[in-house]
Amino acid sequence: MFSYFCMKKLLEKINYNNIPNHVAIIMDGNGRWAEKRGKLRTFGHEKAIQSVKDVINGCKELGIPYITLYVFSLENWNRPKQEIDNLMRLFHTNLKISLEEIHEKNVKIMTIGKIERFSEKIQKELLFFMKKTKHNTSVTLILALSYSSREEIVRATKNIAEKVCNGLFSLQDIDCSFFQNHLYTKDFPDVDLIIRTSGEQRISNFLLWQSAYAELYFTNILWPDFRKSDFFEAIINYQKRKRRFGNVK
Ligand code: IPE
Ligand code: IPE
Ligand code: MG
Repeated sequence: MFSYFCMKKLLEKINYNNIPNHVAIIMDGNGRWAEKRGKLRTFGHEKAIQSVKDVINGCKELGIPYITLYVFSLENWNRPKQEIDNLMRLFHTNLKISLEEIHEKNVKIMTIGKIERFSEKIQKELLFFMKKTKHNTSVTLILALSYSSREEIVRATKNIAEKVCNGLFSLQDIDCSFFQNHLYTKDFPDVDLIIRTSGEQRISNFLLWQSAYAELYFTNILWPDFRKSDFFEAIINYQKRKRRFGNVK
C-alpha cells in the first residue's frame, strides 16, 4: 500500500507549471495479469476499472484537462470469440455503473472510434452518458472504442474527398488544420504524453496523427496494477523531457 507519506513526497516533485494538456494511455497487460494468477483473461479486464478510476482521479488532482484511454481497438475484434463475448458481457454489466461514477466526478465523457460496431445497448449507454456529462468541467475523458488510427485517417480522407468532389471546398483549402478537423479528435488538443503499460514498446494503431510530437513513456507495470502513484511517476518523467518541436533552444 502506498503510504500517505510516499504520495506526499511524489506530489512535491510535480511541477504544476508544466502539466500536460492531453495524456493518452494504452492500457495493456490485462490478460497477462490474469494468466499470471492462473485465471481467465477476463479477470484482468474486470480488474482494469480500478486503474481507470485511479488515473481519472490523478488527472483531477493535477489539473490535466484531457485524457484518452485506449479501451478497445478495431483489431481487438479479431480476438477469439470467447474473449470478445466476455468483454462485451463486461461492458454490458459494468459500463453504466462505471460511467455513472465517473459522471459524479464531474468528468465529461466522449468517445472516438467506430462505436457502431458495438451492440445497440452499449451504443445507447455511451450516447446517454455523453449527453449527460456534456456540461461537466473537471476532466474530458475520451474513450477510444473500436478505434484504429488508420481507419480514422482513411475516414477523414474520404470525407474530405467527397466534399471536394461536391464542390464544397477546393484542393487549396486542405491543410493540416483542415485535415485535423475531419478526425474523430477534432475537438481535442494534440497529445503531449502517451503512456503504455505492460512492457510492450509500440503504438498499436493509436492516435498516429495526434501524437506527432507526443512524449512516449513505457512501463513494465501491467494495467490492472497501475495506480495513481504510477501515473504521477509518468508525469514527473514527462516533466524532465526537453520538447523542441523541431526547433532549437
Ligand atoms: C489490454 O489488455 C486490453 C484490451 C486490449 C482489450 P490485453 O487484453 O491486451 O492483455 P495482454 O496484453 O494480452 O496481457
Ligand atoms: C492495444 O493493445 C489496444 C488496447 C490497449 C485497447 P493490444 O494488446 O491490442 O496491442 P498489441 O496486439 O499488443 O499490439
Ligand atoms: Mg495486449
